Amino acid sequence: MIKTELLTKFFGDFKAVDQVNLEVPAGQILALLGPNGAGKTTTVRILSSILKPTRGSAKVAGFDVASQPSEVRKMVGVLTEHHGLYGRMNADEYLLFFGELYGFSKSYVMNRINPMYEQLGMINYHKKRLAEYSKGMRQKLALVRALIHEPPVLLLDEPTSAMDPESAKIVRTAIKSLKNKERTIILCTHNLSEAEELSDQIAIIQDGKIILQKSIQDVRNSLFGTPVFIAKFDQQIDRNLLDLPDGIQILKNVDQEIYFKITNPNDQNPGLIRLLSEQYNLISFTEFSKRLEDAYLGAVKPDNQDEIHD
Ligand SMILES: Nc1ncnc2c1ncn2[C@@H]1O[C@H](COP(=O)(O)OP(=O)(O)O)[C@@H](O)[C@H]1O
Ligand SMILES: [Mg+2]
Repeated sequence: MIKTELLTKFFGDFKAVDQVNLEVPAGQILALLGPNGAGKTTTVRILSSILKPTRGSAKVAGFDVASQPSEVRKMVGVLTEHHGLYGRMNADEYLLFFGELYGFSKSYVMNRINPMYEQLGMINYHKKRLAEYSKGMRQKLALVRALIHEPPVLLLDEPTSAMDPESAKIVRTAIKSLKNKERTIILCTHNLSEAEELSDQIAIIQDGKIILQKSIQDVRNSLFGTPVFIAKFDQQIDRNLLDLPDGIQILKNVDQEIYFKITNPNDQNPGLIRLLSEQYNLISFTEFSKRLEDAYLGAVKPDNQDEIHD
């Protein structure tokens, strides 16, 4: 659905994006991570045909970003950091204006946006002038705008960066609900727990180059080894009584807890949880995990001296 090959962007003689190869299939969310100035926004702007690549190519929903910009724009909904808003309009007027650009009738746009106002908690302020919006409110509005034409590709550049925790949670839930098997989403974020919660794969970009691209599960496996889960019971369990399937190993058994090493938790956990709770009083079953933050900090090289912008 999104595929870039050796995608490169120069601003003058400064290389902001350097031979980026990315592939995101339909149905997946890719979290694009990286320090400030790494090239995330530039990549998003190229993928939405706002900027032309200097070299290399990118296809979005089958269309080439350089030679088919109007097709690309129909397929893409984009939430960027600096969206021009029209201060004197209210949200309805603003969205109707954009709806019109897509050729939609007023009733179509209103039917489409009203449920989104509700979902995003905008009911109390969507009649206010945009000049009075906080940055977080603007981001929510930008999300609604990105969704008006029900695009199969969504490019979300730091959609929750200026939000209070409650709003950020509402928006994350909305992003989750936008995920479906036909839709492809790229999410630029500095919030690593957000990336971990929402994405199927991550790519880390630094100085314009992709330095790591992996599925979330592979990140966990390769950086932290096979995932470990802790089952807690109301009594000590004799591990020898447990008849475990292949791919599940007991690491240790202390007091009322058993630590399981599980090669493929998505497939194996449901059966294991059933097995344990049929035989014993299982109090909790939780992942013993390090965080994506550890992986991120391990991959990105420290570089504060010559940071270009914040
Ligand atoms: N229009 C532009 N002209 C010149 N340099 C730019 C322009 N846009 C971005 N850059 C530079 O390209 C680099 C990547 O920027 P950007 O893609 O915004 O990074 P990120 O979104 O990862 O923080 C930065 O060094 C930035 O200063
Ligand atoms: Mg950016």
